[in-house]
Amino acid sequence: MSAAALSLPEQSGVPIGIRNVSKEFGEHSGKPFQALKPLNVSIDAGAFVSVVGASGCGKSTLMLIAAGLLKPSSGEVVVDGRPVVKPITDVGIAFQDHLLLEFRTAFENVMLHADIRGLPRQPLEKRARDLFAQLKLEHAMNKYPSQLSGGMRQRVSLIRTLVHDPAVILMDEPFGALDALTRLQVRADLEELWLRRRPTVLFITHSVEEAVGLSDRILVMSPSPGEVIDDIQVSLPRPRPLVLGDAPEFTRYVDRIHRHFARLGVLHGVEPGAAKEPA
Ligand SMILES: Nc1ncnc2c1ncn2[C@@H]1O[C@H](COP(=O)(O)OP(=O)(O)OP(=O)(O)O)[C@@H](O)[C@H]1O
Ligand SMILES: [Mg+2]
Repeated sequence: MSAAALSLPEQSGVPIGIRNVSKEFGEHSGKPFQALKPLNVSIDAGAFVSVVGASGCGKSTLMLIAAGLLKPSSGEVVVDGRPVVKPITDVGIAFQDHLLLEFRTAFENVMLHADIRGLPRQPLEKRARDLFAQLKLEHAMNKYPSQLSGGMRQRVSLIRTLVHDPAVILMDEPFGALDALTRLQVRADLEELWLRRRPTVLFITHSVEEAVGLSDRILVMSPSPGEVIDDIQVSLPRPRPLVLGDAPEFTRYVDRIHRHFARLGVLHGVEPGAAKEPA
């Protein structure tokens, strides 16, 4: 089925503009360290955009700046036409660690947003129940995190990220701690949930395959100081099968990214020219 063939009635996403954003740490004390070179990226409303790059290239720094949790040294991030000058509140954030509270059940962990923000619980409870059902996790709702597997905890965390229907979702290596099989399952869950509402997603991953499997667009970053060295439109149909194997249209994108990393010395022992040029 092609993306165009899917009915996507609700597109809750908003555009994101990253304008000339750079970051130097230690500007005011010690030796300055440039973490990010100036970045310019415009992200369309409802797009799923991944960022891939070597460890330490500045991905999390970019994410924190986009969320308004870190001030850039230059430039600005604009979400839905408004400059981000403080932490943005209707964003959904997910990090590598699921960060569930051990003394709350799975359901109450998901409802944390409502409680912290003083939002009425009823509509969010309904949405939370729907999401638990969609992910076939109803049986886990009243369990505590210690009673759940790692994959279940990560999916509860995913529900918490999505429960208030955020227009923007920022995810920093959310599946990094999962085993390969569970990671595939949660990836499929994420794509399915994203297709239902189409929030704008900025997704950081170390997995090139995961980026190609999920994204409309992939930003490839250079090693530190990070800058965008390739901006790849991924025009594969959705929903995407999990087992793409060596389908040439899939490996074409993977090879293109690996070739950058080989050239930049991020992947050692790989001939930079080994991967085929994309058609
Ligand atoms: N608060 C800080 N003060 C000084 N340097 C920092 C700070 N935060 C990050 N850095 C440095 O900035 C660079 C980019 O860090 P960042 O966490 O953004 O990398 P990353 O791409 O997310 O890496 P990883 O893939 O390992 O998570 C690193 O060299 C890091 O040491
Ligand atoms: Mg990081």
